[in-house]
Amino acid sequence: MPGDALSQDPAELRKRIDSSKAHPARVYDVFLGGKDHYPADRDAAAAGLAANPRGYLDVRHNRDFLRRAVTTLAEEDGIRQFLDIGTGLPTAENVHQIAQRIAPESRVVYVDNDPVVLAHARALLTSGPEGRTDYIDADLKSPERILELASGTLDYGRPVALCLVAILHFVEDEEAYPIVRGLMDALPAGSRLVLSHLTEDLNPENIRAVQRTYTERGFTFVLRSRNDIERFFTETGLKVAEPGVVPVHRWRPDHAAPVPEQPEESYLAGLEDIEKVRYKDINDVTDADINVYGGLGAKG
Ligand SMILES: C[S@@+](CC[C@H](N)C(=O)[O-])C[C@H]1O[C@@H](n2cnc3c(N)ncnc32)[C@H](O)[C@@H]1O
Repeated sequence: MPGDALSQDPAELRKRIDSSKAHPARVYDVFLGGKDHYPADRDAAAAGLAANPRGYLDVRHNRDFLRRAVTTLAEEDGIRQFLDIGTGLPTAENVHQIAQRIAPESRVVYVDNDPVVLAHARALLTSGPEGRTDYIDADLKSPERILELASGTLDYGRPVALCLVAILHFVEDEEAYPIVRGLMDALPAGSRLVLSHLTEDLNPENIRAVQRTYTERGFTFVLRSRNDIERFFTETGLKVAEPGVVPVHRWRPDHAAPVPEQPEESYLAGLEDIEKVRYKDINDVTDADINVYGGLGAKG
C-alpha cells in the first residue's frame, strides 16, 4: 500500500501517543460524540464548551459542511479524487464513504499527523472494490512529502479536490498561505479546494473565549477574517463557487441533520455538559452560534 499506514510498529506508535496533553483530533472527537480520546482531551473540550456553551454547533456543522461539499463535488462536479488533509478520527462518516456512495470508483487519500488517527486508520481504508483509499501519516507542513506519497493513489493528470477542513487555524500565516499555494499549484486544472476555517468575524466574544482555553493548552489557534480566508482561494487563482465563503451552516444547506436517538431523561440528567453534546439536535442553530466559514473553489 503506498502510504503504508498499517505497517506501523505498534510499540513505536505507542511511544508517539502522548495522552497527557490534549490533541486537536481527539478534542474534536469529543464534540462529535466519539470514543477515541483521553481525559486531557475531554478536559480541553469541557473548557471549550464552558467558554462557548453552544460550541458543539461549530464542530457538528463544520462536519456537515464537509459532507455537503463532498456530495456536491461527487454528484455535480464529477470529481473522483480527494486529498483530505487533517482528516480527524473516523467517528463521523468519512470522505470516501460519502464519495463512493455516489461514484464507487472514487479515490481518497487521508492525511493526519496525530498518531491516534493513525491507530484508527484501518477504518479509513475500507474502500469499495472499484475505488481506492490510502492513509498518510504526515504533517501539512510537509506538502511535498504528502504530494509524493499520495501520487501512489491519485493521478495528478486528473482533477483532485484538496480538503483542508478545520485545519488551517493550527498554522500561522507565514506557513499557511505558501502551503495552500504549493498544494494547489501541484494539482491540475479543474481541481478544487474545500476549505473551512474558524473566524472571529461572526461572534467574537464566544470564539475568543474558546481560543484562550486552547492557547493555554499550547495549541496554535489562529482566527481569520472572511477576507483572510478568501485569500486562500484568490492567491491561488481559484474561482469561489456560490454562495461564496459563508458561515458553514449557510453553505448550500440540504436536508435537516438527523437527530441523535435520545436516552432516558434520568440518564441524560446525570451526564456532564460535555457528555450531553452527542445527543444535541444541530438543527437548532442560529447565526449567533456559528464561528466557522466554509467555501469551495475551482482551479481554472
Ligand atoms: C479540528 S480537526 C478537523 C477534522 C476534519 N477535517 C473535520 O473537519 O471534520 C483537525 C485535524 O487536523 C489535524 N491536524 C492538525 N494540525 C495538523 C498538521 N500540521 N498536519 C496534519 N494534520 C494536522 C488534527 O490531528 C485533526 O485531526
